[in-house]
Amino acid sequence: MENQLDQKKRIAAEKAVEWIEDGMLIGLGSGSTVYWFIRKLAERVHDGLRIQGIPSSKRTEQWADEMGIPLTDFSKTDRLDLAIDGADEVDPKLNLIKGGGGSLLREKLVNQVADKLIIIVDDSKAVLQLGQFPLPVEVVPFAWQTTVNRLRELGVEPRLRMDGARPFVSNNQNYIFDCAFQTIRDPQALHRELKQVLGVVETGLFLNMADLVLIGSEQGVQQLKK
Ligand code: A5P
Repeated sequence: MENQLDQKKRIAAEKAVEWIEDGMLIGLGSGSTVYWFIRKLAERVHDGLRIQGIPSSKRTEQWADEMGIPLTDFSKTDRLDLAIDGADEVDPKLNLIKGGGGSLLREKLVNQVADKLIIIVDDSKAVLQLGQFPLPVEVVPFAWQTTVNRLRELGVEPRLRMDGARPFVSNNQNYIFDCAFQTIRDPQALHRELKQVLGVVETGLFLNMADLVLIGSEQGVQQLKK
């Protein structure tokens, strides 16, 4: 039986399908909420909807393939009509923390070329200030120890994400360090500081990117707009 959390994710994800139009090129995000979106989108495709998607992770690519969603890639287009993605935290200004699944770099590359970005979350992700969820920071494996020392100077103890006994490796062959800042007062400034650290590839702060957030709750789906 579907639990309450899955139900909240599913209703937000299914609502997002209302923004899809025939002929669109769509960025397909990552994570368990996006899974529900892909299922619903696949139903529409089987009913005749013509769209093409670009997945932001290998997992999403696999789901889309299995469910019969036509895919394309950046050799065919450098823009998308719409991207749909999940998030780990969303603040009232629609700033996001993403990367809980480790796909932040591809997600950012896909989302940034979309004319519109819709984020789908359950209501546990809506926060007043970002930072409770440890910020994922993607780091080049070579000399990661020196990169982490620079990160420590920003007042955080980065935790190397593990996959069993080995470091977790992202789809782009990098490591992820989860940085528990607790509260992030100035997300723009923190993102800038982190990006200046040599060895940091990308951060999970997605700022000024989302146009609409669909929040699944017991009461239904709430919309948070810019
Ligand atoms: C993947 O790297 C993430 O950015 C996900 O979009 C985010 O972690 C949300 O995932 P869930 O929908 O599984 O909570």
